[in-house]
Amino acid sequence: MNIRDFLAEKISRAMSECGAPTGTPAVVKQSGRPEHGQYQANGVMAAAKKMNTNPREFAEQVVSNLQLDDVAERVEIAGPGFINIHVDPAFLSAQLMQFVGDSRLGVDPVPAKTIVVDYSAPNLAKEMHIGHLRGTTIGDSLVRLLEFLGHKVVRANHMGDWGSQFGRLLAYMNRLSNDTESLIAELSDLETFYQAATKLYDEDPQFADLSREFVVKLQSGDPECGKLWQRFIDESIHHCQKIYTDLNITLTPADIKGESFYSDQLAGIVEELAEKDLVTLSEGAKCVFLDEFKGKEDKPLPAIVQNSSGAYPYISTDLAAVKYRTQTIKADRALYFIDARQSLHLRQLFAISRAAGYLTERHDFRHLPFGVIMGDDGKPFQTRSGGVVKLATVLAEAKTRALQLVTAKSPDLAKGERQRIAEVVGIGAVKYAELSKNRSSDYIFNWDAMLSFDGNTAPYLQYAFTRIRSIFRREGIDASTIAGSILIDEIAEQKLAIKLLQFTECIDAVVQECLPNLLCNYLYELAGLFMSFYEACPVLKADEPVKSSRLLLCSISAETLRKGLELLGIETVEKM
Ligand code: ARG
Repeated sequence: MNIRDFLAEKISRAMSECGAPTGTPAVVKQSGRPEHGQYQANGVMAAAKKMNTNPREFAEQVVSNLQLDDVAERVEIAGPGFINIHVDPAFLSAQLMQFVGDSRLGVDPVPAKTIVVDYSAPNLAKEMHIGHLRGTTIGDSLVRLLEFLGHKVVRANHMGDWGSQFGRLLAYMNRLSNDTESLIAELSDLETFYQAATKLYDEDPQFADLSREFVVKLQSGDPECGKLWQRFIDESIHHCQKIYTDLNITLTPADIKGESFYSDQLAGIVEELAEKDLVTLSEGAKCVFLDEFKGKEDKPLPAIVQNSSGAYPYISTDLAAVKYRTQTIKADRALYFIDARQSLHLRQLFAISRAAGYLTERHDFRHLPFGVIMGDDGKPFQTRSGGVVKLATVLAEAKTRALQLVTAKSPDLAKGERQRIAEVVGIGAVKYAELSKNRSSDYIFNWDAMLSFDGNTAPYLQYAFTRIRSIFRREGIDASTIAGSILIDEIAEQKLAIKLLQFTECIDAVVQECLPNLLCNYLYELAGLFMSFYEACPVLKADEPVKSSRLLLCSISAETLRKGLELLGIETVEKM
């Protein structure tokens, strides 16, 4: 149950019973000392204003009509007409008891919508690099959260698998393909393959001509060329899939709807735009001008939907994708997790889609931009020699560094176990570093910070989880069999209980804003409150019924940490 919404509904009802006009609901926030179960409602003053009455007097009336006997210990009016509610510990324990054995931890499913999540989307003419980490990680967390809430989620990996850059790759493959073995060997190191093809393209005019021929052949559906292309794409996808598996990302090859998927729809899209009088010919290119887009000196800013050479740019494919998503998939919503630098592209995309009727009022399509990953020097993160940082390299380094940490911390664990823990901790650390920062800001990539056992990091939370689990292990207690109820006496118990109950509120806020960092903060605070509780309140040494009550608090805390991390796409282990 979402306590905020629950209280808001009660207060709104009391307000309308006191004559408040409809459409002036109460809005409830955690306030004052939220860890003590304090909430504050506003909306009363706005209603009083509409009714032309004194807000404090109106608030008093509302409070006397409020049915919160089992919920609130105290209700008081503050300032000009805020209502402060202090939640009753008995209510907390009754609510929390419902979490026992409930894997949803109080989070109710919502009415399902069909939601497309567009994320990751590497260009296959390059190896996946650090720039893909953020969108992939954040997008995947939102996918998990939305599915957990009960939505029908369609993962859309809009891979860049089409376009002129493939000409040189195919021409290069063609050159090698007489010798299948060397082709396979070259393709297994994609980065070197791209570099070799590009070098040849730049240096050998004949090869460059051949590359251009291949672009034409590919686009006109030449079967031989199509076969070569498919081989290249398969190899590239295989490479991406390995990264996804290593990173514990839920994308599979079935989620790929690359640019090539839309290629035969592009001519039709441009025709439709023209039929709707949206297309203007400008310097041989077909353009869409919309009033809301102005460039330098207020000049109209076009979106080119077909180049003078006849080729279709990036936005045309995206227009086809919008149409496919609303008309074929019948999506209600779509979330585009794409770099902030593409903001103009997405604004134009959505505006043209609305003008063309691909998007209507019932569709909620949004760009969720994210910032850049920086190096220690405050510049976009690069290798020491100034090259792109490959994602595969980052993941390997994360595991190596985590293995050193785990070995230092638990030298007695068997090697295989340490390796498994290192994978979970290393990958978790890299992902959590992305997830815990506000999506829209740039941030500095720092190994020591993300792998620290102190502070808002994955290792800290994963370790907190293992500590709770060890309480059960030490005593041989099966958490699922604890009988008894939750008693809240100590202040540390109360603070922990209220935090646990706020899991739903947190999930709702994360999904609303598409900001997983809110969930990270929540889990970090929860772990801190758990540690304080564990210091202040003996668990195993307590007498019954307190012992069972505290064990239940331990168990729900562990489950909440586990579930929260899982929704972020981060694994946990029993020991570390
Ligand atoms: N492949 C593109 C790039 O690397 C990202 C695609 C994002 N999705 C989209 N529907 N445009 O820049």
